[in-house]
This record gives sequence, C-alpha cells and structure tokens, in this order.
Amino acid sequence: MITPIQSFEQYLEAYEQSITQPEAYWENQAAQFLWKEKWSKVLDWNFTEPSVQWFVNGKLNITDSILDRHVQTHPDKVAFYFEPNHPEEARQVYTYLEVYEQVCRLVGVLKSKGIKKGDRICLYMPMIPELAIAVLACARIGAIHSVVFAGFSAQSLAERMNDCGATMVITSDGAFRGQKTIPIKSIVDEALEHVPSVQHVLVYQRTNETIAFKEGRDDYWATAMEQASSVYVSEAMDSEDPLFILYTSGSTGKPKGVVHTIGGYMVYSAFSFAHVFQYQPGDIYFCTADIGWITGHSYVVYGPMLNGATQVIFEGIPTHPTPGRFWEIVEKYNVTHFYTAPTAIRSLMSFGTSIPKQYNLSSLKVLGSVGEPINEEAWHWYHDTIGNQQCPIVDTWWQTETGGILISPLANITPLIPSYATLPLPGVQPVLVDANGTILEGNEVEGNLCLKFPWPSILRTTWGDHQRCQQTYFAAYPNLYFTGDGCKRDHNGYYRIIGRVDDVINVSGHRLGTAEIESAINEQVDVVESAVVGFPHDIKGQGIFAYVICTPSESNEEAIKRDILQMVTKVIGPIAKPDKIVIVSGLPKTRSGKIMRRILRKMAEGEFHQLGDTSTLLDPGVIEGIKEKIIALG
Ligand code: WT7
Repeated sequence: MITPIQSFEQYLEAYEQSITQPEAYWENQAAQFLWKEKWSKVLDWNFTEPSVQWFVNGKLNITDSILDRHVQTHPDKVAFYFEPNHPEEARQVYTYLEVYEQVCRLVGVLKSKGIKKGDRICLYMPMIPELAIAVLACARIGAIHSVVFAGFSAQSLAERMNDCGATMVITSDGAFRGQKTIPIKSIVDEALEHVPSVQHVLVYQRTNETIAFKEGRDDYWATAMEQASSVYVSEAMDSEDPLFILYTSGSTGKPKGVVHTIGGYMVYSAFSFAHVFQYQPGDIYFCTADIGWITGHSYVVYGPMLNGATQVIFEGIPTHPTPGRFWEIVEKYNVTHFYTAPTAIRSLMSFGTSIPKQYNLSSLKVLGSVGEPINEEAWHWYHDTIGNQQCPIVDTWWQTETGGILISPLANITPLIPSYATLPLPGVQPVLVDANGTILEGNEVEGNLCLKFPWPSILRTTWGDHQRCQQTYFAAYPNLYFTGDGCKRDHNGYYRIIGRVDDVINVSGHRLGTAEIESAINEQVDVVESAVVGFPHDIKGQGIFAYVICTPSESNEEAIKRDILQMVTKVIGPIAKPDKIVIVSGLPKTRSGKIMRRILRKMAEGEFHQLGDTSTLLDPGVIEGIKEKIIALG
C-alpha cells in the first residue's frame, strides 16, 4: 500500500527525485501494485507523434489491485455506503468481498454475451454502486468502458456510442434525481435507433417503472446475474491496453474520446489519491462527483478503491429534499474527506450558514475542490463554515486528459493560499509559455499552462483519431502538452489557475465547447447563425450567453427562445442550455468574416464602453443594436 508523503521536506525530496530520476521514481510506485508480469522498460515517450508508454510490456489486470488484493487482507471492509436519493430509503452497505463477487458475476454475464477483451461497452446509469461494479467488470474482462453521464441526451449518447463502436450498453430502467424520475432506458432506446453496433442491453432495475423491452437484445441485470457463472480469474492485459474512453468537449467540433491506458492510469490515480487526500485506514471519503465524469472515474472508482478506501456513494442532488443534504450525509457517516465542486459550494452558501450549522460536521478532516477556479469568498465559507477552520482545502487542478490531479496542495502538508492550486505533484513538470511559445522562466509570471514531461496517466490518444489528439494538445507548442488553461506563478512559485484561454466554457464545473452549443442552436429552423460565449455567473462560475440571428418569421421571440432551449436539450442535454439568449440582427464580424468574440464576451458581461479596438469591424453599427437588445433583456 502507498505510504503518503508525510512532510513538506519529504514532498520536496520526492519532487526532486521524480524530476531527476523519473524512471526510478515511478518504478518504485508501480511496484506497489499487483502485476501478472513485470514491465521491460519504465517509459518510452515523445510529444511529437505523440506516443507515451509507461511500464512497457507489463501485464496486469487493474481489478487485481482493486479487489483480489483487498479481499485477501480485509474482505469485510466496507467499500461503499450507498446513500439513496430519497433519505427515507434505507442505505446499503457493500463490502470489498461483496463488490468482488458482484464484479465476478457480472464478468460471467458479459462472457455469456460474447464480450471479449477490447470490446467497447457503454455505461449510461444513475449514480449507484452498480455503476462502479459495471466499470470494474469491464476492466476485469478487458473491455473498454465508456461511461456517458446520464444527463446527456439520446442524441449525444448515440453519437458517443457510434464514435467508439460500442456493442453493449449497461443501463437502468430509470433514475431518481431529486424530485424527478428520469426515464433512462427510454433514452437508451431512442439512442439505439441510430446505433447499429449495439447488440446487448443490460438493464439494472432501480425505479421499477415499466419499460419497453426488446427480446433478444435486452436483459435484466438481476436475472442475468442469477444465471451467470462467477468467473474469478481476471484477463491479463497489457499495461498500454486502453482502460476507458471518456468523451469531453473541446474548442472545436464534436466531443472527443479521451483514451486512458491501464498501467499508468492505475499507478497515478492511486498515487495522487493517497498523497493529495492523505487518506488513512478508517477514514470515510465522500466525493460528490458522478462517475460519468473523470472525477468519478479517478476519485470514486479507481483511486479510492486501489487504496482500499471506504466511501459514500450518493445518488441524489445537494438540495433534495433540503439544502442540508450533503451535511446530513457527512454527519450520518462521519465523513472525514469531502470532495466537491465550487459551484456546489456557492449554491449551498446561498442558502445561508444556518443550514450547515444544524449538523455535526466535526468528523471532517480534509476538504477538496475540483472542476473550476474556486473564488475566495467560496473558499473562505468552505473553510470556516464547513471545515470549522480545522480542515485544509485541497484545490485540485487537473483535466479529463490528465487522468489525475496534477497541481494541488497535499492535505496538511502544503501551505494553502485561497484560490491557488499551489504546487505540482511529484512527477509533474508545469511550464508557462507566452503566445509565441517562449517558456517563461522564474516567478511572478503569467502565461499558458503546459507540461513538459509525461506523467503516468496522460491521455494516450483520442479514440479513432490520433491526429486530433496531436493537433489539440501537442501542436500549439512543440514538445509540450498544452492544457488550454491560463495560469499565474507567484513570487514563491505557487500556481493559480485563471481559466480557459480557448473557446471552452466551464459551466458548474462541466466543460462545454461553444462551437458544440452553437451547432445545437443552429439546428433550430428559425436560426440563421449563432455565437455563444461564457459570462461570469454567481453560482455556475460561467453561464452560457447565446447571440442568435433568426430568419424573419411569424413566431414571437419568446417562442423562438423556448424552441432553442428545447433543441439544445435534445441535441446535447439540459446542462448546455443557454442562461441568456438575445436575438440580434447582426454579429460583430471582421472584414474577413470572423466573429469578434472578445466583443461579445465584454457585452455579455454588461460592459459596453471599453470594447477595445472596433475599427476592424465590417459594420460597427451592429454593436449598438446588440447593446439595446441586451439592455432590454435586463
Ligand atoms: C478544466 C478541465 C478535473 C476534473 C473536473 C473537470 C478546469 C479543473 C480546476 C481547479 C481551476 C480547474 C480547468 C481545466 N479546472 N480543476 N482546481 N482550478 N480550474 O474536468 O471537464 O476535463 O475540465 O477544468 O479549466 O482545464 P474537465
């Protein structure tokens, strides 16, 4: 098991070694897991193709280190406390042994469907332990999982399944979310009308609602599990075989399938969890992220379970039935480690301090933040009201593509500065570059955040399109991985993430490409053209602001706006719905036809005076028209 770094001096020493002797450093880390065959070489890499391989020729199955290992030493240790959406429903407890047995049985089900190593299985499920079990069953049989967050629309789901050529879907009948019940299976059915590759659908019954059932294709989880043999031996996989594909938005085109491979991801997700959170045996960890996002992959399923942690899995939402729900859970389970997103903190903060004060939060030892910059006000509220000024806040910076936390304080070790992600983890080599790609040396500099050396869980490719991976991450600056984030390094060398420098917006910690939202809006018949930008939003961090040009039509503006919202919900999902829509007669364009987004961003913030240089605009008159519309919007 991993012994967490215990002091700042130890951190500095580890960091130094990880930079001067990276191979020796990571080899020692990797040796702490179960391998079926040892690697022949620790690292092989270049950032030009790019090609990165860790623990080359090593053979393993990640579930051996997650399940078999813990089942041998502590089978009855709790893996999951499942807290259902409705507090009246009884909680459930799953030990490591029980998870192991369920995973093995589900492997039996997958085998009976003919699933084999390398097949892609799509998971579209609520936040329940069976989702983690499904993830692990895929890993155990060597199938590549692609989890799609159950808030995405049928169209988005279909697009992802087609992109990766999924042959099977694991889903549920419905999902409980706050006061709503979401018809998960019918969304899957709708998606599957457009996905010829899927042959099998396995349905976990969560809500017990009536669903359409297609004989020959569909099967119920419970019946299939009863009939399946439990296959115990895990498939031997290569260290560089893909473990999963997770789709994420970028500044251009459709979402891309980020590919992570087994060996490096295993080592880094476990390593980062142990050091950042300083998890000790007996601690109770609660991460509020859904497994449909990378945070749920790395810090619900893989990182904590590789460390044999006990955690709470919560199905519901922070405000149901009351905005004290998270704090009630902390009290109920004596949660020691709580990891959430700034948007949740800001939202709960808005209900007032009196709510958390009604609960006993004294079990808490470490608080975590992820997904977007945490503003100072939210940081202080989290620190004072939730942590009673006793708990460090680990502001963890990372991305879907990085697989694990790269820049973050180590709890109780790294000095904290509100809104700073502080220092890189061992093995992580950040650099800041200016627009020309010149590396900015020294402290007190600000630039684009890049990494100059691979860490074990760096993405390996984007599914089916390696060129796109090269173009998106490795082309902007030669021999550097470019994150898309702007960042500042202060006088002590501490890092503060400023936000995206590309056309990606971060809405409630979720990443959305403006181009993707525009193309959804453009599907609405009345729309001729649209431009989407982010604007500062009190709760969500960034809100979505859409400028839309429409054809003259009978419908009134309100009706068109309603239709646009419906269209975006249909094409992407409710998370991508614009917060504000203005229907305008023109967009600020240069003579070469390029939309000047800088101006649209300013106006979305309500800033009309300092728009900068507008002399290159084809028709400076459009500005006045847009301004009137925004003011009328209120
Ligand atoms: C983008 C990655 C990492 C899991 C959740 C989001 C922003 C993430 C922080 C942080 C400031 C952050 C960045 C990054 N971001 N964490 N602690 N401070 N910004 O994963 O959807 O891949 O988004 O989220 O802009 O590039 P993602």
